[in-house]
Amino acid sequence: MCGIIGYIGKEDAVPIIIDGLKKLEYRGYDSAGIAIYGQNGFDVVKQKGRLAALEERLSSRQLENNPLSGHLGIGHTRWATHGEPSDINSHPHVGSRNKIAVVHNGIIENYRQLKERLEYSVQNSEGVTFASQTDSEVIAQLAEHYYCMDNVNAGDLIDTVIRVSNAVEGSYALGIMCIDEPDVLIAVKKDNPLIIGVSDSGNFIASDVPAVLKYTKEVYYLNDKEIAVIRSGSVQFFNMDKEPLHKTTETVTWSMDSAEKGGYPHFMLKEIMEQPKVLRDTIQSVLGEGANKNVFDNICVSRFKKIAIAACGSAYNAGVTAKYVFEKLCRLSVETDLASEFRYKDPIIDNKTLVILVSQSGETADTIAAMREAKSKGAATLSIVNVLGSTIAKEADYCLFTAAGPEIAVATTKAFSAQLVLLYMLAIRFAHKLGLLTEYDEQELFVEIAALPYKVSAILEQTDAIQKYASTCVGYKSIFFIGRNIDYAIALEGSLKLKEISYIHSEAYAGGELKHGTISLVEENTLVVTISNCASLFGKIMSNAQQVISRGAKVLLIGNCSEIDDDTETEKLYYISLPHVSDIFSPSLSVVVLQLFSYYVAANKGLDIDKPRNLAKSVTVE
Ligand code: AGP
Ligand code: GLU
Repeated sequence: MCGIIGYIGKEDAVPIIIDGLKKLEYRGYDSAGIAIYGQNGFDVVKQKGRLAALEERLSSRQLENNPLSGHLGIGHTRWATHGEPSDINSHPHVGSRNKIAVVHNGIIENYRQLKERLEYSVQNSEGVTFASQTDSEVIAQLAEHYYCMDNVNAGDLIDTVIRVSNAVEGSYALGIMCIDEPDVLIAVKKDNPLIIGVSDSGNFIASDVPAVLKYTKEVYYLNDKEIAVIRSGSVQFFNMDKEPLHKTTETVTWSMDSAEKGGYPHFMLKEIMEQPKVLRDTIQSVLGEGANKNVFDNICVSRFKKIAIAACGSAYNAGVTAKYVFEKLCRLSVETDLASEFRYKDPIIDNKTLVILVSQSGETADTIAAMREAKSKGAATLSIVNVLGSTIAKEADYCLFTAAGPEIAVATTKAFSAQLVLLYMLAIRFAHKLGLLTEYDEQELFVEIAALPYKVSAILEQTDAIQKYASTCVGYKSIFFIGRNIDYAIALEGSLKLKEISYIHSEAYAGGELKHGTISLVEENTLVVTISNCASLFGKIMSNAQQVISRGAKVLLIGNCSEIDDDTETEKLYYISLPHVSDIFSPSLSVVVLQLFSYYVAANKGLDIDKPRNLAKSVTVE
């Protein structure tokens, strides 16, 4: 769950690595570090805290006339799993013999056993003393142990990497430097992402594409247990039998601008504002030519008796929302599961089940595990992911890409909207293939979908009211979100968004469920955000709103409610109206208001919106 970057080439590695870490900081931000192969060997600077703290340390080195510089280096921004965030636990880790330096993303599950074995040899005066509490240091120490051992393979870096890979259990993406090889950077991975960018002025390793976009769009996607030996002008690949592999580069379509804030105060706001374009691109990816269209055309839905959707966080909320659409249009039973629970419940799935995995990053460990569980039970798997070359994209039987571009803010917005629209379109196509929608009806629904970006634009052109209302909400201790039917599904996302970035406690409930317990929490000065787009349920949800108002709460009503007039609005009820759309597609509009509401509440509290405390964008550990 951290960010890794490495560089070898003609330029000074330090600014390239720091710049790359800035692009990767969304992956982890409790500490950061850099190791450069300098004139006197490894030169390592590590610092607890945000990247800015590391930059300050580097500036002081410059002032002391001792700048960090070199043409080979590795950097890391950490989200601690083993050992508190501290200078010493930050990466890179260097072995006690000062031979090997390593940055690691992932978890080494058997690190205790390996550590004990390495420490034990101390008594035989060969052992090592560990400096940090991390699992990752074991990689550096173990690599040195193999590299220096009195053995035929000693002194061979590739053999060493193979032996380390075979010895460790768990997940890893590694950048490795060796003191005896000043011209070589090594990369290897298992279950965590790593790409290799190539350019005329040097080559890169990185956890994610935005870190290298400024320098190149040509990248290799490393597969599990492949080793890359990277030099300034070449990249070679080997498998775990040390056999050479032939790989080809892929050209990234993401633009450099997409990884910059572009004048917005936060990536989150920029990404919210990008939604009309993202929706248009995603819709076009199905209606035009290309990979998504092919999947839509080729998937044979009649062989499935059931659909299961597994995902985490917001992606799960997209799944819960889509369940309403699939069930309504396809009359197929849809089960939604948190990916972190899926494999432990012995899911009832077989080769007549389609399991849909939804994931922005395509690297979420729980969702990967759910996908593998589904495959092991013979189910067909379809992934909806945003990152090309990611594990879930590669391993699922079918893959649909959301055309959201890189999403940097930890709280997802545009990728969620893209997931929703792909899921709607899939439900429509399935319904047509199942004979439940005529071609004409299918086209009518697609026309309505194609209008969504314009309706989202209309909301984004009038953010003042939301901003103003949000500025009055910073003092709430708790905010509830309610809705009925599909409005309830999107209430879940509204609540998650708010708690992620504003740190205000919040929960989402189905409107009808309030009276079964939750209403006891409602008191003077509680805010209940009420979503109402389902016309047939307007009376019912308004009854819920009245019930909470009678108990002292205030209501923020979001929806398309033709029955609301000026008289209905009171000091206790504030209404934000949405453009008209069919019930089943209304979450695409509601969510934009909910995102903006959360954003402005957090902005008014002066919080670090793009990097909320304790969270990381891509959760590659269980
Ligand atoms: C969303 O705002 C969160 N950052 C989080 O819930 C996220 O949706 C979840 O971790 C799943 O990530 P994924 O889409 O990359 O799999
Ligand atoms: N497990 C390692 C640590 O705690 C790496 C964590 C990460 O991937 O960020 O340092």
